[in-house]
Amino acid sequence: MSLVTISVDGKHMNVEDGKLLIDALIENQIDLPYFCYHEAIGAEGNCRMCMVEIEGQKRPQIACDTFVKEGMEIRIDSPKVNKVRQDILELELINHPVDCPTCDQAGECSLQDYYMDYGLYDSHIGKSEKNKKGKKVDLGRNVMLDQERCVLCTRCVRFTQKITKTGELGVAHRGDHSYITTVPGRGMESEYSMNVVDLCPVGALTSKDFRFNQRVWFLKPVESICHGCTKGCNIYVDHNKEKYKDDMIFRIRPRINKEINGHFICDYGRLSYKTIHENRYMEKVEKDEIKEKFDSIIAKNKTTKTAVLVDASLYLEEMATILQYAESIGAELLCPSETYLDESFEDDMLRTKYKCSNLQGIKSFDITTEVSDKEYDLVINFNHPDFVNFKAKQSISFQTHNNFEADLKIPVAAHAETSGTLLNIDNVKQYCNKIIEPNDPVLTINEWMEYLR
Ligand code: SF4
Ligand code: FES
Repeated sequence: MSLVTISVDGKHMNVEDGKLLIDALIENQIDLPYFCYHEAIGAEGNCRMCMVEIEGQKRPQIACDTFVKEGMEIRIDSPKVNKVRQDILELELINHPVDCPTCDQAGECSLQDYYMDYGLYDSHIGKSEKNKKGKKVDLGRNVMLDQERCVLCTRCVRFTQKITKTGELGVAHRGDHSYITTVPGRGMESEYSMNVVDLCPVGALTSKDFRFNQRVWFLKPVESICHGCTKGCNIYVDHNKEKYKDDMIFRIRPRINKEINGHFICDYGRLSYKTIHENRYMEKVEKDEIKEKFDSIIAKNKTTKTAVLVDASLYLEEMATILQYAESIGAELLCPSETYLDESFEDDMLRTKYKCSNLQGIKSFDITTEVSDKEYDLVINFNHPDFVNFKAKQSISFQTHNNFEADLKIPVAAHAETSGTLLNIDNVKQYCNKIIEPNDPVLTINEWMEYLR
């Protein structure tokens, strides 16, 4: 890789020879407005918002179709380019409804931000003169379109052509009557359809699940890892604790990790946050009473056949504690893996066939995953879904949700209420931060085990 020196607004920087100028500027964290370019789907050159001045060139050029050369002198902040941007914005906004107060994208909308940075002109167009287009256009199970808000950057169209290769979106009609639509007879039914919501730089494409749920500036994003399957896609989890309510997750968005998920995640993973809140087992319990019952069951089963079940979505730190405990009472440690197996879920983009987040963790601890004998005197379950298929004379269940019955049920924190480490399918270790703090938190598995051992 040979480097060349370019100057941007008088500041010198070394960049890879022949690199796309827009990539070089983004990499060097130089603020440049643009709509249609996207790192994952490439350039289209239709929005003209990425104009820069280049020394020796008569007219401003678009940075998404310019390659860097030794000695290039670029101006991105000059009266000339700022005027070009203002004119382009006026063109983009001619038919835009400017309904920011009710738009879900407000607060994270490029059009809104650029207007404040470069626009600030007085409109020459009255509201009644604007072209009317489709509002609330249902594109499929997860995505809604407002055609009037669209700036026709075609990121969404190119996503379906280049990434999912499903090609269900296109641009219909001509000129300022153009609009985004689905191919007749088809909807956005791909398992990755909701990525167009993140790709859309304005509020044209919205998530049916998230729309009108929260103003984005109230949300607090936390970096985390998806628990939907063993791929370990990187995500942001946006949560908020409203007054008099509990701390709740409102949406999941992809977080760029070029080695694992690139820029995208699947719709299943994106919507998986719902299972954290639904049907939770958050019973208020007396710790002393639990300990008394726990000790008595364990004491009665000192010499009996005991199994300890471990869920393959627990963190490595929890697995290590459970392993130590199982060894200390001479129990068999099991994690039947066929429970998570769903061959139909796997695809050639991101999704793997095991719907749990830490199967590699289970394997790294040598925990038995092939289990045929499911009859035991005592079963101690740590949230494994296959617990329902075990026959036991007595049972103890540490559980996050109200899914199981047992002689002793112990509520434990869900993965979003604690932190820990996951090993993905390729053995990449990834750390998950704690996301929510419920009003009445329950103990984590490790806190319980420290108390009960
Ligand atoms: Fe671009 Fe959004 Fe319009 Fe698609 S809907 S062309 S992503 S502005
Ligand atoms: Fe360059 Fe749209 S980003 S023309």
